[in-house]
Amino acid sequence: MNELVSFDSVTKRFGHTEALGDLSLTGTGGSVHAVTGENGAGKSTLMNLLAGVYHPDAGTIRLKGNPVKFENPAQARRAGISSIFQELTMLPNLTIAENLFLGREPHQGGMIERRIMRQKAKEALNLVKSKADVDAYCSELSVAEQQLVEIAKGMMAEADVFILDEPTAALNAPEVAILGELIQSLKAAGRDIPLLRYRIGAQGRAPRRDGSGRRHQSRAADFPHGWADTRPALSRSRGEEEMARQRHGSL
Ligand SMILES: Nc1ncnc2c1ncn2[C@@H]1O[C@H](COP(=O)(O)OP(=O)(O)OP(=O)(O)O)[C@@H](O)[C@H]1O
Ligand SMILES: [Mg+2]
Repeated sequence: MNELVSFDSVTKRFGHTEALGDLSLTGTGGSVHAVTGENGAGKSTLMNLLAGVYHPDAGTIRLKGNPVKFENPAQARRAGISSIFQELTMLPNLTIAENLFLGREPHQGGMIERRIMRQKAKEALNLVKSKADVDAYCSELSVAEQQLVEIAKGMMAEADVFILDEPTAALNAPEVAILGELIQSLKAAGRDIPLLRYRIGAQGRAPRRDGSGRRHQSRAADFPHGWADTRPALSRSRGEEEMARQRHGSL
């Protein structure tokens, strides 16, 4: 089996909260996984562990069969993990080209080679079929455009694993279709793509965070039919269920 990434009995705690308990998952090349779970089920924690932001308290993460312990996000990126966070991470006051090459700008004689940087940025945007201007400031881009640029960054780095947290939450239908095509092309190129998704409740509504970090209710569709090959589900640990029940009454 073409195993790219696996979690083997991974546990992550924050104080008394067990964000992920004894989680085992496997991702193979050329597959898309819709990882679902309600608020607090540990979706973002899963991503942060893979991205090198957090470290497991127990268990092993493997990449292509080899155990990995990322000290920081840069190490995870270098190992081929591209993480597209719910709160996008591009710097708004830099251009697309500057963001794509942040920290690894091409140099010649102590000077940044802007022409080469812009050319390579254009090639990267072509890969994701984005029509954005490489000189545009990221603050001018829609969420969908920013997501595409982040995926382009992962493609430039030849990432093997693209993990996206709630990727359709802020997109309209045509943007979802574009993202879907891109995900299928990454899959065809042998990448492994976990997509994290809130599990839709009985009313078909999902809580979301707005810009200020507050939660609010908004309509949300499940991933379009045919996107995912597997649908692993995360659930809150029993302690968390109990705390949520105390906070919100019965669930
Ligand atoms: N940095 C942190 N410090 C303390 N507790 C945390 C931290 N990050 C997550 N948690 C807790 O871990 C649990 C899992 O959180 P996580 O954000 O991974 O869930 P989620 O599935 O992404 O939820 P959501 O649907 O709200 O995005 C929650 O109980 C959360 O409060
Ligand atoms: Mg989350």
